[in-house]
Formats: sequence, C-alpha cells, structure tokens
Amino acid sequence: MSENNIVITVAAGGSLKGQIQVPGDKSISHRAVMLGSLADGVTEIHGFLEGDDPMATLQAFRAMGVRIEGPERGHVVVHGVGLHGLKQPPRPLYLGNSGTSMRLLSGLLAAQPFDITLTGDESLSGRPMRRVTEPLAAMGARIGTSEEGTPPLKISGGQQLQGIDYEMPVASAQVKSCLLLAGLYATGRTCVVEPGPSRDHTERMLQGFGYAVERDGNKVCVQGGGALQAMRIEVPGDISSAAFFMVGAAISEDSDVLLKNVGINPTRIGVINILRQMGADITLENENEAGAEPVADIRVRGSRLQGITIPEQQVPLAIDEFPALFVAAACAEGETVLTGARELRVKESDRIQVMADGLLKLGIDARPTEDGIVIQGGRIGGGTVDSHGDHRIAMAFAMAGLRASSPVVINDCANVKTSFPDFIECAWRLGMTIKETTW
Ligand code: S3P
Repeated sequence: MSENNIVITVAAGGSLKGQIQVPGDKSISHRAVMLGSLADGVTEIHGFLEGDDPMATLQAFRAMGVRIEGPERGHVVVHGVGLHGLKQPPRPLYLGNSGTSMRLLSGLLAAQPFDITLTGDESLSGRPMRRVTEPLAAMGARIGTSEEGTPPLKISGGQQLQGIDYEMPVASAQVKSCLLLAGLYATGRTCVVEPGPSRDHTERMLQGFGYAVERDGNKVCVQGGGALQAMRIEVPGDISSAAFFMVGAAISEDSDVLLKNVGINPTRIGVINILRQMGADITLENENEAGAEPVADIRVRGSRLQGITIPEQQVPLAIDEFPALFVAAACAEGETVLTGARELRVKESDRIQVMADGLLKLGIDARPTEDGIVIQGGRIGGGTVDSHGDHRIAMAFAMAGLRASSPVVINDCANVKTSFPDFIECAWRLGMTIKETTW
C-alpha cells in the first residue's frame, strides 16, 4: 500500500444527473509531450491531463533538457529540440506508475547517444518489459532488465538501429508505439503487424506532426530519418475516465448524464459497444473533430442491463475499461462471460483477480478464469474492498456503491490521481455521495 492510505467511501444507492467534462486523454497527453519534445518548433497543447502519469512523461523530457511551460489549466507549451536534441539526464528517469511512459520511452531512447536508466514504483517495477526489449534488441538496441524481465530498464546509448518487420504476439498499442518511435531513428523501414486493432493515437499524431505513416490492413510502417514539425494539439476528454460515469449512469435508475467532449476514436470505443450490447441507453451528440481525433458528447441514461458473452474482438478496444464493465456485469441480469483478456492480469494490478476478490466481498458471484472472468449479476451488498493501488479498480468500485445496499469503502486509492485527479469532484457534481479520507 502507498504511504498514505487514501480511502474512498461511497454511500449506498442514488443516481447520476447532470453534465461534466472529464479530464484530458491520458494516452494522447503522453504522446503530445513526447512528439512535441522531438519536433522542430513550439508545440501548444490544450486539455493536457495533469495526472501523475503524463506528468511523469513531462518531467522526464524536462530532465532531458526540453523547456516545457505549464501545465496551467491544461495548457502546456513544449519547446521542441528536434529528434536529435535530447540531453543525458543527470540521474535515472523515475516514471512512477506509468507503463505507457516506460514502454514508449524505451523505444524513443534506444537510439540516443547517451546511456539512460528508467525506473518506476512498486507496481511498474513488476510489469513485463520483454515485450518491448526483445523486438528493440532485434533492431539493434541494448537494454538490460531484471532477471524477470521487469524494470529498471538500463539502456546503452550509441546504438545504430535497423528497421524490422515485427509481428506482435498480442494487440498492444504500447508495444506498437514503442517500435514506431524507435523506427524514427532506425535505418530503413520499421513495420509492426498487429493481431487486432489497438489504439492508434501514435500513428495519428505522427501524421499530425508531418511524419509519414503507412498503413496496410493490420500493418503499420514508418521510414527512419524524417523530422517532426511542431503543431497545436487539442486533447479530447478521456473515454477511459468517462467510462466510470457511463457505467455509473447505466446501472442506476433515473440517471441521465452528459459527458462533454470525449474522444470516440474507433480504437477506443469498446466500452460503448459492450455496454450497448448489454442494453445500455447511450447516445452520441455533437460529433466533431479535435485535431486528428473524433470527439462527441456522450449521453447515458439508466437502464436494465443484460449479461452477455463479450466478443473477443472488443477486448483491445476496451482494454482499460474492464474494471468498470465488471461492475456493470455485476448489476446485469444473468451471466457475463469474458475470454481472451489475459492482458488484464499484467496491468497496474492483476485486474481479473483483484476485481473478482472485490466483487466477491460485495456479495457477487465472480469466478476468475485464466484469460477472463464469469460474473453472475446479483445484489451488491456493502463492504470494504482493496484497489491494490490500481486507479481504475478504485474508481470502478466507487460506481458499485450506486447499486449497493450499504456503503462501499475502497482502500489504497492514492493512484486515482495518476489518471483522474478530479474524480471525486466530478462524482459529487453528478450527485454521488462520496468522500475521500487520508489515513
Ligand atoms: C496505452 C495502451 C494500453 C493501455 C494503457 C495505455 C497507451 O496498454 O492499457 O493504459 O497509451 O498506449 P497496452 O497497449 O499494453 O494494451
């Protein structure tokens, strides 16, 4: 558990009403700072997520000599140093809880002229890194890990990378992005083939910065040796943060919420597709474009949900939303079955086991399987659950309170601020009775 145990307590029952703007997209915020730092010229970012994870990326680039102003109410100004302008930081880069920072930076830093070490907190220090270090080694990088293939990552500088053709064993935007970023520095073409579509923010943003990206079906390629031109970036609201209130509204009678200006990139909308299949009442209003990304206001009204078998092709499109979706399944009529989601076991926590344990504590029959879970909808009781320091587990269980028969208490919630610093305030605004205490 983190030093200060932040506990979230949610009163039993209620509904969600009103409208909010969820904070900026985490994945896009990371990439905006990375590409802005490597571009020629000044990149203006609006709607940057001021959460611990993107801040870890921002501080890492400051430590490598990039002048970055802000963030000030989501406004960040990055004075790009060009692809070859980064400097060796005085000490290892500490990336906190952020897997995206570590995996994307490992690619981007593999071809720098200096040595560099990447470290993280307890959770990040247990996460698998061979998925990036092995293909990077095939490109000519030299990166050391622990014997278990976990951080710290020790990157030896001065390597000339060569482009490769890499077939990814799992659909992972982090692995894909890592290799494309390394590919900017490689000789020749770097191509990645995905087994299924994963979020494509890196490809979109590279193109926004004027860098050619070729896509042919599931294959995406970049040619090394180009340059990035600074741009203005509008970061849309994060659908992964909106997902908690989408589920909260869907499971509670009389709810009616409007989540404003949320990113609805087709590679991220698994949560909408799955909830609709369960019978949720979700409509998109004001569909628009923000930079290279589609956005909309998402309206969700309370409804009766049915258990379903979740189509496996939706898994990468909803990969971060399963903690919230498991709460929806707990409130649905009948059984919900998830398969093909082994990746959930290596996120910020083992999200299959931790959610199953918590749901069981709240009186729900939830059986973990090797690559998924089987959940019987039922009555949620109250009780105390543990988030295991995982931001999305904490916020998912907060939504369970809306259908609980007595209060739900969630331990170890400090990491909510990695992705959604004003979660409690947004929940309040939508009418939840929720409080945060520090022990
Ligand atoms: C992310 C990709 C996903 C996701 C993570 C953010 C990204 O991880 O779980 O929260 O920004 O590229 P994987 O690509 O490893 O599935």
